[in-house]
Amino acid sequence: MAAKPEYGNWVPKRLIYMSGFAGFVFSGLALVFWVLAVPAVLFFLVAAYFVYARHQFSLQGGKVQDRVWTLVLANLDWNGEGKALDIGCGNGALTIKLAKKHTKAQVTGIDYWGKRWEYSKSTCERNAEIEGVSERVTFQKASAVALPFDDGYFDAAVSNFVFHEVSDAKDKREVIREALRVVKKGGKFSFQDEFLVKQLFGDTEDLVETIKSWGISKVEFIQTRDADFIPRALKLPFMLGTIGIIRGEK
Ligand SMILES: C[S@@+](CC[C@H](N)C(=O)[O-])C[C@H]1O[C@@H](n2cnc3c(N)ncnc32)[C@H](O)[C@@H]1O
Repeated sequence: MAAKPEYGNWVPKRLIYMSGFAGFVFSGLALVFWVLAVPAVLFFLVAAYFVYARHQFSLQGGKVQDRVWTLVLANLDWNGEGKALDIGCGNGALTIKLAKKHTKAQVTGIDYWGKRWEYSKSTCERNAEIEGVSERVTFQKASAVALPFDDGYFDAAVSNFVFHEVSDAKDKREVIREALRVVKKGGKFSFQDEFLVKQLFGDTEDLVETIKSWGISKVEFIQTRDADFIPRALKLPFMLGTIGIIRGEK
């Protein structure tokens, strides 16, 4: 059987196991203290929700993850000539998708591959091999707060669900600024994240104006949480309910 790429699932199995396990523990305790049947039921409902969400995200189910990555590329107005960067590439899904879409582009994926996610550089490289793009794609360990590239090195940059996670940046807007630093003048970008969370990024209109004030010529916000392929149950704030894209030209 041909090898398949492993892009992972945004709902890790451990979330399902942990909530299911808690449900069983409380069920047992409810035999003694009946009132604990309430949290038992709640934990089972949470586990069932995560099973549903995992299925919707997967390629075998609702393919939501793949469609979310496609949104990033659909909003990157780039001709594919030159070099592109994917910041916080995880298992390389968006990096590889970009390389497959732009068949002449050289694409770099960076990530710090910390413990929070089950992603790795070796899985990225294996995925690129399987997808037939390994000659044009490289993966590098690096931090999004201090990208190891000169100003204007890339012709395009993308990122998906990363900036809000960067724990060593107090102001998440600074991570966007660092991403734009490595894009050349006239280069294109498309970044998707939880941009509707005001505590992280401020008001979106203000965010767009701030980015423009850094000398970026075109900036636009697209509220991708409204995409019709996202089921309503996945539009909860801790799922895809706060997502949007910042796109434009430097
Ligand atoms: C929600 S995952 C998204 C992964 C991938 N972009 C995707 O769409 O599947 C967040 C990613 O950001 C990476 N990340 C978090 N903080 C980072 C940092 N400071 N520098 C580089 N990568 C970081 C994590 O390792 C993880 O791969």
